This record gives sequence, structure tokens and C-alpha cells, in this order.
Amino acid sequence: MNAAHTSLNRAAEQVWAEVAPALPGFQVEVLASVDSTNSELMRRVHAGLDAPTLLVALAQTAGRGRRGRQWHSQPGDALTFSVALPMAPPDWSGLSLAVGVSLAEHLHPDVQLKWPNDLWLAGRKLGGVLIETVHQGSQRQAIVGVGLNLHAPDTQRLFADGDLPAVPPASLDELGAEVVGDLGVWLARLAPALLKNLRRFERQGFAAFARGYAQRDALVGQRLQLDDGATGVGCGVDAQGALLLREAGGAIRAVLSGGLSVRPC
Ligand code: BTN
Repeated sequence: MNAAHTSLNRAAEQVWAEVAPALPGFQVEVLASVDSTNSELMRRVHAGLDAPTLLVALAQTAGRGRRGRQWHSQPGDALTFSVALPMAPPDWSGLSLAVGVSLAEHLHPDVQLKWPNDLWLAGRKLGGVLIETVHQGSQRQAIVGVGLNLHAPDTQRLFADGDLPAVPPASLDELGAEVVGDLGVWLARLAPALLKNLRRFERQGFAAFARGYAQRDALVGQRLQLDDGATGVGCGVDAQGALLLREAGGAIRAVLSGGLSVRPC
């Protein structure tokens, strides 16, 4: 077992000890390798898993991003984990933004949020969130996947399939050796807070996270282009977490989902 795996195992025990008293049945597992922590939890939930579960992987062979994209990472360079949690919030809207706020607030003051699910550092992607839900009888389980770059990815190797991002990804080590720590440090810091905040979201919805989101919103005042070609200037999010775009002429459009690119003002 290498140092990264040992550090994750140690952190997993810490997370369990911190979370289990308030979350009956909570379990944590660290895998050396899996196709995707989200996919694995989906399979387990379909097979009857109903306990809150944190699944961490040192390596993913088929990591997934939003909108059918791939999530590439090399073992030891990125923290990759997913949480499966039965949830019944009155309103699910804004959940991915709330997750982003929880992560960013426990990462570093310089980390920003790019709607709807990206963690940003210095205008580049530091990490992402993939949320999926599974119906299980009368209840619904949220599967919340998090990928976070600790060390600069070897883009030539990772994106050998030609899917090279236009802008190279960011990594926490850009903030300095004293900040970056190791995988276990970040797991122990992020996971308990995330579980607590998922519970908070269930009770209070996105309203409880709106201020935190506004403080880290990377798109306010930026000229944006949506996938459908529409352009405008970002002006925050509404009470449901929809992106507000001021279009030419001044009309405000609420965008519920989709992709966008940021263009220089
Ligand atoms: C995105 O940027 O579109 C979301 C990326 C989410 C990646 C994480 S890594 C852990 C979990 N397992 C996956 O397959 N995806 C998420």
C-alpha cells in the first residue's frame, strides 16, 4: 500500500469517527481502484444499499463528469470520492451549488465557484461535482461525487485521447506546499463538512447557502456565452440557484442548467 492509500485509510477512520455518531449506519470505504465512485455507489444503491456511505478511490478508471464528459485523474494527484445519502428535501434545486459552497469554504479563501458545479482557482478548473439521484422504494438517494486536483495533472498523458481542455486545469499545489498537504488531509476536512451540509440543505434548501455562493461566485460581472449561443453578463443566481444572465437590452434570463463558457469582458 503506498503513502497516498495509507493517508486515505487513516482519514477514512477519522471521518467515520466524526460523522457516525450523528448519522446512524454511516459507513466509509477506500478502494485502490474502481471505474467511478459514483457508478459504484449507483450499482450498490440499485442492489439495495440504503446506508449513508462515503466511497473514496485512489484511482478511477472511468471517472465521469457532468453531461457525459469524462473525469480524468492520476492516482495520488486528485481526491476522488462520492457520498450516497438518502435525502428528502422539499426542493432539490441548488443542491450542486450548495455542495460547491461547502467544499470551497473548507478549501481556501481563493477558491471560487463557477456555476453550476465547478470549483475554480485563478480562473481555471480546480475540481467538479457530479450529483445523481436514485429512487429506492419511496425514498431517494443522492449520490454526490467530488473530484479535486491536488497536484498539477500531466495533461499530455491524461488527455491522450485528444480531449485536451482549452485551459489547463488548476491544482491546489498552486497555493503552495504548506497548503496542498495530502489526500487524507483534504478528505478529513471536506467529507464531514459535506455530510453536515447535505443535511442542512435537506432542512433549509439553497437559501442557507445563497450568501456563501454569492461570496465566491466567479461569474458575476463576466461576459458569458451559453451552449445555445445566447450571451450576456452574469449577475448572480436566483433563490433556486438558477444562473441570472443580463442579456443585451437589459432583460434578465434565469438559466436552470446547461453549459456555458466565460468570455473576457
Ligand atoms: C464535472 O466536472 O463535470 C464533475 C466531475 C466529478 C468527478 C468526480 S470524481 C468522484 C466521482 N466519481 C466520478 O466518476 N465522478 C465524480
